[in-house]
Amino acid sequence: FIAEIDASDTEKGTYPHFMLKEIDEQPIVMRNIIREYQNEKGELKLDKDIRKAMEKADRIYIIAAGTSYHAGLVGKEFLEKLSNIPVEVHVASEFSYNMPLLSEKPLFIFISQSGETADSRAVLVKIKELGHPALTLTNVPGSTLSREANYTLPLHAGPEIAVASTKAYTAQIAVLAVLAVDTARVKGIKLDFDPLQELAIVANAMEVITNQKEELEQLARDYFATTRNAFYIGRSTDYHVAQEAALKLKEISYIQAEGFAGGELKHGTIALIEDGTPVIALTTQENVNYSIRGNVQEVVARGAHALIISSKGLEQDEDAFVLPPVHELLTPLVSVIPMQLLAYYAALHRDCDVDKPRNLAKSVTVE
Ligand code: AGP
Repeated sequence: FIAEIDASDTEKGTYPHFMLKEIDEQPIVMRNIIREYQNEKGELKLDKDIRKAMEKADRIYIIAAGTSYHAGLVGKEFLEKLSNIPVEVHVASEFSYNMPLLSEKPLFIFISQSGETADSRAVLVKIKELGHPALTLTNVPGSTLSREANYTLPLHAGPEIAVASTKAYTAQIAVLAVLAVDTARVKGIKLDFDPLQELAIVANAMEVITNQKEELEQLARDYFATTRNAFYIGRSTDYHVAQEAALKLKEISYIQAEGFAGGELKHGTIALIEDGTPVIALTTQENVNYSIRGNVQEVVARGAHALIISSKGLEQDEDAFVLPPVHELLTPLVSVIPMQLLAYYAALHRDCDVDKPRNLAKSVTVE
């Protein structure tokens, strides 16, 4: 039963793989974050220097790699929509040092589960030479990126052993949501939601989904048993989760997958759709629901085997999986869970090494 899992232990216990255990730990991690980021009065608690640095920043640069980069893309939505700060998200290895910094008072946020990713650290070294402030979100306090930044925020996800990052990704998104709401509050921006209450709803919604493993295992069998490629499509924040979903599938099942902006398919990539090509579509955002369903029709007309995952309230009869309702901004925290489990079962059915995929390391400490 979920509540008995201790997210801080490093043993598999009764689980066949660390990845499955870590997927199941995500509701607990949400509850850890709710506990750690609130004060005795139930208000948001954040280090005062970080609060000040966020308030002062007139532009934020998020620097990360892999799954952490995908979390940064979701964080951009929060910070821009809630805290009214322009945000750029950069893959660490692509961050150009010649890029004119478009701001007088930038703040650099490094997102890293391990806190040891060399690509990210290389940027941090440069940024510090330039005298700009840096905040690191990491699951390993005391790690290089944590020590060398001006400020650090822990993810409270407990040790993540599986190479494929799951609970750290959702923890990163939850901490970014807390950061964005706290900054909005400091700036006197009125918000329609309390993140701590909403994260409690998210934790319960995650548990509903992790109790639907049989259904998701069957969907993985139906869609990924024999395919060599797959597309995940979404719009807006669903596009960012589609990118993370594709990485999960690629890195543990070795199926070539791409996360795509739904509206972008017709600009070339739709040429790749053949009879039976799996296309997983995410729709959790009211304002783009109609458009992404139009994209599904486009690919189905070309033979795609479509699987639609929708939020309760947006669902339609043909949808294969409906997510429990959570605040629309926080849907990535629940829509990623079926994606993680689809990837897990696809890899399992192909006898892949789920926890230690070929060619991969848990932390890429070389550039
Ligand atoms: C994610 O599933 C991968 N293991 C990988 O992309 C990882 O997110 C990336 O290497 C960044 O690692 P970090 O978060 O420790 O910096």
